[in-house]
Amino acid sequence: MSFDTRAYNRAMTHFDRHDSFWLFGYGSLIWKADFPFIERRPAYVEGWTRRFWQGSHDHRGTPAAPGRVATLVRQQDALCHGMAYRIEPGVLAGLDLREKNGYLRERVAVKFEHGRAEEGLIYLATEHNAAFLGEAPPAEMAAQIAHAHGPSGSNREYLLNLAEALTEQGVHDGHVATLVSLLPPAEGES
Ligand code: BEZ
Repeated sequence: MSFDTRAYNRAMTHFDRHDSFWLFGYGSLIWKADFPFIERRPAYVEGWTRRFWQGSHDHRGTPAAPGRVATLVRQQDALCHGMAYRIEPGVLAGLDLREKNGYLRERVAVKFEHGRAEEGLIYLATEHNAAFLGEAPPAEMAAQIAHAHGPSGSNREYLLNLAEALTEQGVHDGHVATLVSLLPPAEGES
């Protein structure tokens, strides 16, 4: 269930000669910025919506019990809010490694307050990668998230960290809120 995207991403050289450019984070990058950046700003992308449709066999689950993590899917008229980081091109090698299980670099227009747009990049997992799980009934997705654990921690923590970070930004994401509301209680909770 893995599709190592590092070679594909290295071949995407569009930003190599830029001094800096914007990386748009919509999942763990919102709260886990463990890479050097020049500045960061709340931002959004148009025509995309956040979905827990990508399997995680290497971070928030295992090959036997994959977790579910965020990707973006195209949806007309949708907006996805997240966090943009201005980074230097050399930073991408580390991110390519961290997100190698199915995520490909994709160019997007990153939008900021007052609608100002700048060229930027997302890591995108599409249905064409082997780890993609796709849609499932929300209660099923929440149960899977509640039970999955991987080397980076629990899948529950991933979802709750994302929900908290979005709340701090004043963003409501219906998909994320539904999954949180359907999470079965953690062991030890009643
Ligand atoms: C993100 O937060 O944008 C992200 C994190 C991991 C993989 C792909 C995208």
